[in-house]
Amino acid sequence: MPDDMVSHSPAPLAGARPAAPLSGTIRVPGDKSISHRALMLGALAVGRTEITGLLEGEDVLATAAAMRALGAGVERRPDGCWLVDGVGVGGLAEPADIVDLGNSGTAARLLLGILATHPINCFVTGDASLRSRPMRRVTEPLSRFGARFVTRAGGLLPLAVTGAADPVPLEYTLPVPSAQVKSAVLLAGLNTPGETTVVEPQVTRDHTERMLGHFGATVRVAPAAGGGKRITVVGQPELVAAPIAVPADISSAAFALVAGLIVPGSDITVEGVGLNPSRTGLLASLKEMGADIAYLNERIEGGEPVADLRVRAGTLAGADIPPERAPSMIDEYPILAVAAACARGRTRMRGLAELRVKESDRLTGTAEGLSACGVRVAIEGDDLVVDGAGNLPAGGATIASRLDHRIAMAFLVLGLAANEPVRIDDARPIATSFPGFVPLMNRLGAGFAEIG
Ligand code: S3P
Repeated sequence: MPDDMVSHSPAPLAGARPAAPLSGTIRVPGDKSISHRALMLGALAVGRTEITGLLEGEDVLATAAAMRALGAGVERRPDGCWLVDGVGVGGLAEPADIVDLGNSGTAARLLLGILATHPINCFVTGDASLRSRPMRRVTEPLSRFGARFVTRAGGLLPLAVTGAADPVPLEYTLPVPSAQVKSAVLLAGLNTPGETTVVEPQVTRDHTERMLGHFGATVRVAPAAGGGKRITVVGQPELVAAPIAVPADISSAAFALVAGLIVPGSDITVEGVGLNPSRTGLLASLKEMGADIAYLNERIEGGEPVADLRVRAGTLAGADIPPERAPSMIDEYPILAVAAACARGRTRMRGLAELRVKESDRLTGTAEGLSACGVRVAIEGDDLVVDGAGNLPAGGATIASRLDHRIAMAFLVLGLAANEPVRIDDARPIATSFPGFVPLMNRLGAGFAEIG
């Protein structure tokens, strides 16, 4: 579509109780975390990397454009396979313009890690959501390699980075459980002589470590002294192009799975879902709530465990979700809270401080949205407490999606089980992570509809 035809007006959408239970089998798009990393590491490898199943959401397309602007060859074949011609570790070139990473925190933070040890200047920005998110969590450790940053007040984007010409390696203990910060430091270590080590007291998703190994880097992972992991990357390897098959994103599958659990009588299957153990906290939590989830055709695809997940609706009970589980389901709390709203009894989700700095403040947004839909909910410290009455929530509210795809999808799903429809003011953010969400859910019988 030409630029002047892009819709700049909000796209309201409603979820309402469907006439029949949800049924059928779908496959959701590729994993967002793995897709970003495949493009970035492909761009730093020598040779051509072929990526199948890449998520073609706006976040990942922003990374593709950024790697192209930095000198890598990135193109999509008509069959949907993406080809990345890498420049080798340390080989990226200064881009001719500002790099705009849209809504994507992962793209911004991981790319800053790469740029920190390339001796070039780069200007980085994003949308209103990304420009409000904390970047000091990466610029602070990346400065220790010798990179220089000029940021907006408060460490915010837009920023300018001048990468270190003679970087020094680092041992860094994560002050927050963030795979993005871990990855930024490891990726900076890639073009640094010697060994760079990250200690993570709480285990976070490990796609960067796995994929670095897949491309031929030496990565050592050992238990850390006080718990968690110590991850060391040996700097300045030659990365060798390697094919990547991206599994379906469990964080996207989550919306269909919870819909299947809360719409009475439903029976649905989501195929090929990535089940990396650092990502499956939602499934553990739903099982504790009594969910009927079957793992079918468990297999390894592209080095990651995957399975087809079949869920059948039934009665859910409240549960106590421990704080140490948060990193393995960090993006799934809004939709878990929707499941909790349809359960019988209290669900306490503990230790959710990081939810405040996602695409929106998801702790507040989830609580306010549920409350508007007639659900008893409270924020106690960093805990979210939902009291499910065991019957269907009232619904009947309009929720602001606040440039946050997961808030938008979670409340549309709540509408499927509520007494009155739930509206979101703008469905456009959904395209950042889950293009095709509406038609795919409607194939299961959701009946999401635009409203005038
Ligand atoms: C991601 C890590 C998580 C997650 C984000 C993707 C990644 O962020 O919320 O959607 O790909 O590394 P944090 O690591 O900052 O918690």
